[in-house]
Amino acid sequence: MIIIKTNEEVELMRKSALLVSRTLREVAAVLKPGVTTLSLDKMIGEFIHDHKAVPSFLNYNGYPFNSCVSVNDVVVHGFPNKKELRDGDIISVDIGVILNGWHGDHAYTFAIGDPGKEVMQLIKVTKESLYKGIEKAIAGNRIGDISFAIQEHTEKKYGYGVVRELVGHGLGRSMHEDPQVPNYGKRGSGVKLKEGMVLAIEPMINLGRKEVFTESDGWTVRTKDGKPSVHFEHDVCIRKNSADILSDYTHIEAAEKTNVNLYTGEEIVV
Ligand code: MF3
Ligand code: CO
Repeated sequence: MIIIKTNEEVELMRKSALLVSRTLREVAAVLKPGVTTLSLDKMIGEFIHDHKAVPSFLNYNGYPFNSCVSVNDVVVHGFPNKKELRDGDIISVDIGVILNGWHGDHAYTFAIGDPGKEVMQLIKVTKESLYKGIEKAIAGNRIGDISFAIQEHTEKKYGYGVVRELVGHGLGRSMHEDPQVPNYGKRGSGVKLKEGMVLAIEPMINLGRKEVFTESDGWTVRTKDGKPSVHFEHDVCIRKNSADILSDYTHIEAAEKTNVNLYTGEEIVV
């Protein structure tokens, strides 16, 4: 069952989504070689609690941390740990909150220092594919139009692997509502999009093959070929002419740029 949100509810969901964006901005500002993902997770939990919300991932189906931090060949659901991040790593940071009863759930992939041209392109193209999908997230279109746009831009155009086992989803008073939003599929297929639907659209794209496996911890999803994977996620509300993106990358991107320049010693451009 798909739950349509009223305008008032959408505004509350924007607050939840933006709290995740602000938390991701905090992460962007401290990311550098030597930082442990466990320290990030601790900071994420504190920041969310300081803003009168709770981290929604913690204890979700038994998930044991505030956030999912997925480094290099980890696709999603990586556990924070005490290992230090290194120059050339990439890390997807996925955060969920419940604020006033409403969920926000979004993610961003960061480069630590320089992971090289090939991987930087994977990051760029995966982010582009998220926006290509969002362009199709308008009333009257179907879920398959979003899916197709993401797959076209990543698999067809660049030969990347689109993960099949994990999908985007509806979002509201629960973290996972109908409908599912696959990152692959046929144009014109699936559920028709209506104004007031809120979706978490989240391409998970592999540099190499699409196959993944789950580690024995029951959570960590990795690429089978060991090559890196990138994940971006936005929360969007379906409207008539263009989707309303409830989450926001602007401040994350600004913090990311400043920070990257700081530790590579390049000139700081703000
Ligand atoms: N963004 C992920 C999702 O949509 C986060 C869920 S992970 C969990 O499924 F830790 F909460 F389980
Ligand atoms: Co999600």
